[in-house]
Amino acid sequence: MIEVQHLTKRYGRVTAVDDVSFRVERGEILGFLGPNGAGKTTTMRILTGYMPATEGKAIVAGFDVFDQPLDAKRRTGYLPETPPLYPDMTVLEYLEFVAKIKGVAGPERKQRVNAVIERTRIGDMSSRLCSKLSKGYRQRVGLAQSLIHNPDVLILDEPTAGLDPKQIIETRELVKELAGDHTVILSTHILPEVSQTCQRVVIINKGRVVAVDTPDNLTARLGGSQTIYLQVDAGESDPSVVLGTIAGVMRVVETDRHEERVGYEVESEQGHDIRRDLARTVVTSGWGLLELRPMRLSLEEIFLSLTTEETDAPAAAGGETANG
Ligand SMILES: Nc1ncnc2c1ncn2[C@@H]1O[C@H](COP(=O)(O)OP(=O)(O)O)[C@@H](O)[C@H]1O
Ligand SMILES: [Mg+2]
Repeated sequence: MIEVQHLTKRYGRVTAVDDVSFRVERGEILGFLGPNGAGKTTTMRILTGYMPATEGKAIVAGFDVFDQPLDAKRRTGYLPETPPLYPDMTVLEYLEFVAKIKGVAGPERKQRVNAVIERTRIGDMSSRLCSKLSKGYRQRVGLAQSLIHNPDVLILDEPTAGLDPKQIIETRELVKELAGDHTVILSTHILPEVSQTCQRVVIINKGRVVAVDTPDNLTARLGGSQTIYLQVDAGESDPSVVLGTIAGVMRVVETDRHEERVGYEVESEQGHDIRRDLARTVVTSGWGLLELRPMRLSLEEIFLSLTTEETDAPAAAGGETANG
């Protein structure tokens, strides 16, 4: 339904999007995940025909967004980072206006306006001025306008940014309801968003795709190396050096300390189960073993490792390398 091939966008000397390729199948929700400045908005603006690419190709609903922009736009709904509302119009006036410029004509217009108002649950606000809407409602009205011409494809740029937790949940539910009928690309810089809403994730960093997979596979794929949380009572001695010499241990990071109780995150190489050796070492050294448990490698850590490895030390590690 969406096909992006070797898309590159340069702003002068800045390469905002660098050879990005991915596909989105019909009815799928794809998460477009990356830190601020990764190139998400730029990619979305290209896909929605708001901006030309420097190189590469994008096909939306069977139409090339450069060669057949009108056909592509007719089948695309776009929620930009800031919803494009007109402050002096009421919600109803605004949606009727958008319907008109999107070519929704005659009796169908009224019907589409009502349908999107119902779908995005903004009925209570229909006679309110756009300038008087709360952030949450502005976002919903933005979503409503993107749906007005019943597009096959929805491109949502950080649809939950700036919302409160309740609104975030409501928006996620709404996006999930929309998938199936629509193919959705949703950008976000926060992880829970993709694991809870999306079937597949494209992780982008500094304009480049660093991973494409399901949230579960991403976790599994990089879950080979394991981090163990270990808490010991070592009295006056410093166990970190000894722990670091155990076969298979890659890294030992102190995470917490309460008097003589010290907590560590011990990271192991792929395929090494170091738990027995850890326990044995602690006990034979005469220290108290207070806690030993595997920490699941969260999507968050994967994301951080994928997006920070070339520059800084992973921020997830905490402790030792606080400011990388
Ligand atoms: N109009 C522009 N002119 C110059 N640089 C830009 C422009 N828009 C974005 N950029 C740069 O392109 C990169 C990607 O930006 P953007 O696509 O907005 O990222 P994201 O949406 O992932 O936060 C950033 O480095 C940003 O500073
Ligand atoms: Mg952005």
